Amino acid sequence: MHGKTDIATLTEAEAAVELARLADILAAANAAYHQDDMPEISDAEYDALKRRNADIEAHFPALKRADSPSEKVGAAAVRGFAKVRHRVRMLSLGNAFSDEDVQDFDAQIRRFLGLEADAPLAYTAEPKIDGLSLSLRYEGGRLVEAATRGDGAVGENVTANARTVGDIPQTLVGAPDILEVRGEVYMAHEDFEALNTRQEAAGGKTFANPRNAAAGSLRQLDAKITASRPLRFFAYAWGEISEPLSETQAGALARFEALGFSINPLTKLCHTVGEAVQHYSAIAADRALLGYDIDGIVYKVDDLALQGRLGFRSTTPRWAIAHKFAAETAVTRLEAIEIQVGRTGALSPVARLKPVTVGGVVVSNATLHNADYIAGRDSNGAPIREGRDIRVGDWVTVYRAGDVIPKVRDVDQARRPEGSERYVFPEKCPDCGSDVVRPEGEAVARCTGDLICPAQAVEKLKHFVSRAAFDIEGLGAKQIEAFFEDGWVKEPGDIFALEQRYGPGEIRALKNREGWGAKSAENLFDAIREKRNIPLARLIFGLGIRHVGESSAALLARSYGSWDEFRKAMEAAREHEGPEWEALVDIDGVGKVMAGAAVDFFHQEEARTVLDRLMAYLDVEDAAQPAASSPVSGKTVVFTGSLETMTRAEAKAQAEALGAKVSGSVSAKTDIVVAGPGAGSKRAKAEALGLEVLSEEEWRALVS
Ligand code: IVH
Repeated sequence: MHGKTDIATLTEAEAAVELARLADILAAANAAYHQDDMPEISDAEYDALKRRNADIEAHFPALKRADSPSEKVGAAAVRGFAKVRHRVRMLSLGNAFSDEDVQDFDAQIRRFLGLEADAPLAYTAEPKIDGLSLSLRYEGGRLVEAATRGDGAVGENVTANARTVGDIPQTLVGAPDILEVRGEVYMAHEDFEALNTRQEAAGGKTFANPRNAAAGSLRQLDAKITASRPLRFFAYAWGEISEPLSETQAGALARFEALGFSINPLTKLCHTVGEAVQHYSAIAADRALLGYDIDGIVYKVDDLALQGRLGFRSTTPRWAIAHKFAAETAVTRLEAIEIQVGRTGALSPVARLKPVTVGGVVVSNATLHNADYIAGRDSNGAPIREGRDIRVGDWVTVYRAGDVIPKVRDVDQARRPEGSERYVFPEKCPDCGSDVVRPEGEAVARCTGDLICPAQAVEKLKHFVSRAAFDIEGLGAKQIEAFFEDGWVKEPGDIFALEQRYGPGEIRALKNREGWGAKSAENLFDAIREKRNIPLARLIFGLGIRHVGESSAALLARSYGSWDEFRKAMEAAREHEGPEWEALVDIDGVGKVMAGAAVDFFHQEEARTVLDRLMAYLDVEDAAQPAASSPVSGKTVVFTGSLETMTRAEAKAQAEALGAKVSGSVSAKTDIVVAGPGAGSKRAKAEALGLEVLSEEEWRALVS
């Protein structure tokens, strides 16, 4: 590519020829991208060509063509795949890291279902394939849509690509009319190595591991490229179905197999959880010989009726768990310890490592947790690593478990360089210089510069645009940092003002910034505009209130329904007392700490003005009230006494799934009290208040 400098040396005739050439290339690239969904050049190349065109035009204004590419801002299509809303959410799995965790999982299920410890309870044990999940929709036996998981609610439409995968049937005989088959797309080791060899020979991109190769191959805008990649697919779950597949998980898998899908041959029906764990150990021992990557074993309750009763937590099923294999480790040198300041001011020490490969991925950073961890003790002062502290210059063992951030496990004191010193944790914030405090009994040290600390501000913004919050395509941590640095984005509202402030025009326009062109700028503005409509739960999560994580945000959204109700209640509860406060702490799953954090957040003058500026741009979608048609939707229910046909946990989960709020105490706000035998004071109070009191049987009749 010619640089900017050569433009000054162009003659007028050369410039005219060059402008004609650029107009041609860019017109062809536009057509390939917008009409055929088959880009021929990368975004970066496209932007560079456009910039070059603009630079030449700036030098030779008289030569600007009538069909100048500068005048054509790519038609609004956001680069990439169309979005697909999953009819049944694609969930993730909880993790177990030890046999004990698995025993707890079994015990929890038994408790939930009210099963004795020795009652029969069978599980399937299936390898957890390390690829990417895909949902395949068949209608009338024909494959009509394939979608990636995305954020679980909305994925990407990759139908054309999925059709090129040999293991994915195009038509099914004898399938339910509507059938969504879910499973994992992966790449076998030998195919992965051959692909990398080919890529290298062709001067193309190589992949760090089979999982990345599978993801990169499936998510190609050009399905011809996907077709040339050796992808495979195992089916293991399902989404929407017009009729039941079977009564058991094992039966459903057998059905998939009969329909022509590959199911994992190491899947085993185990009659006890102990048998499942044995299967885990057997597979773990031979894992390296499998020919493809797996990162654990998934246990699923085999009986689908029990799966139905167990249901889901906010993002994971109660009836399944992933038992992960022990993490891979590697030894490397700790080059430096740096402190990162998080959005709530927490100071996190990060190990900068001499890059090392751990389980197929190059690791150069790892978390060191906190000051105690570095010093070799836990939060109670008891020694960890037999009291060995970690110092700059040490040789350390690092490990990765799943997708989580790598960690430092141990240190080799025998190789410690002479003259090394204990690490001293900073007493001032490295970003704003404010004092660092560490409250008694807490492991975390915090910067006290809340509103003046730039590190906290930028981390809050990164959180705001993160995947579970506003999830703005093209606006990630890197872009936020750059915009923050230049003062373009100081608070969330500024994001939505970007287009108006830095959109069209020539000076200080986004498209003139490094790394941006007219098209990528336009795409960003589209993506931002799209998120002005935001579900309430995402907004609450995005605010970054301490102690309010993704599932708490969803709980608050469900409980208050709309932004106005939520904000009004938080402001009214400012003294941590009164009816709004009581109602808040009465929500099952909201503790006093979280409630206090939420209320205090709205009590800060600064936060309120920042919110007002943000809300001017947003249209907040009320929280979906699940099953609004259910007779208990929106009602507050209290269960008391013993229940006979289900456990308290199951009753609560079922009521919540139907849109009811379950509370632990009876008040004038209670709508229904379900009283079993032995109900005492709560029943009496309900009767005194004139509330509706139902027997368990009457309750079941109401909700079935
Ligand atoms: S079941 C409702 N089974 O693991 C549960 N998942 O961490 C749906 N995965 O997103 C998942 N092998 O991509 C299930 N045999 C298996 C799996 C499996 C791999 C992946 C899947 C899921 C992730 C959850």
